[in-house]
Amino acid sequence: MHIHPSILSADFVNLEAELGTILSADAYHVDVMDNHFVPNLTFGLQMVESLQRVSKRDLDVHLMITDVDEHGPKYAELGVASVTFHIEASLNPLKLARDLRARGARVAAAVKPGTAVSALTELLSELDMVLVMTVEPGFGGQKLIEATIDKVAEARSLTRSRGLEIAIQVDGGVTEQNIATLAKAGADTFVAGSSVFRAVDRNRQIDLLRTLAEQAARG
Ligand code: DX5
Ligand code: ZN
Repeated sequence: MHIHPSILSADFVNLEAELGTILSADAYHVDVMDNHFVPNLTFGLQMVESLQRVSKRDLDVHLMITDVDEHGPKYAELGVASVTFHIEASLNPLKLARDLRARGARVAAAVKPGTAVSALTELLSELDMVLVMTVEPGFGGQKLIEATIDKVAEARSLTRSRGLEIAIQVDGGVTEQNIATLAKAGADTFVAGSSVFRAVDRNRQIDLLRTLAEQAARG
């Protein structure tokens, strides 16, 4: 069970210091938004390069950008641990997945709440991780959309039935109230933005989320 705090909820003026407050994380989730694919703007390649230079944890880069076929591989070239692209944004997902892997990144594809998990079927053998968005991408602090939990289970049965070792990540509205349900549905990698950053002790919150997920998965 892996907890990836989303730095979207961090203080952008003090990002390096903010990273130091979440060292219990398994990796840091970095949301790149371009104001086109989603109605919000965060940062791009230069900022991710700087984060990669100072980060003491792996970076899990979530690209919410159009033209991802062209720009996605540049993020992989920075040496980040994984790059996630949206299936809705890619014109040639198979080629993109291979381009990312060729540059040394783990590869993940994401589906928005309105996109069926089956859209990833052809791509599964190229992936290390599937990201099931549990909110509409664009903003932190939203409430998890309950209907997406069935999609997590569907993603898990799809990978399992093919005998593939693929991580299932959930992103959006993950809290200590719902993480057990998500883990039982088959998620093993959890992005948590506001639920970590608003906690008084962020590392304790990360450890709590991980423990709850592990307990749920054990049954
Ligand atoms: C939303 C982002 C998420 C976001 C999650 O588009 O992809 O990573 O930061 O934040 P919370 O956990 O607050 O929903
Ligand atoms: Zn994200």
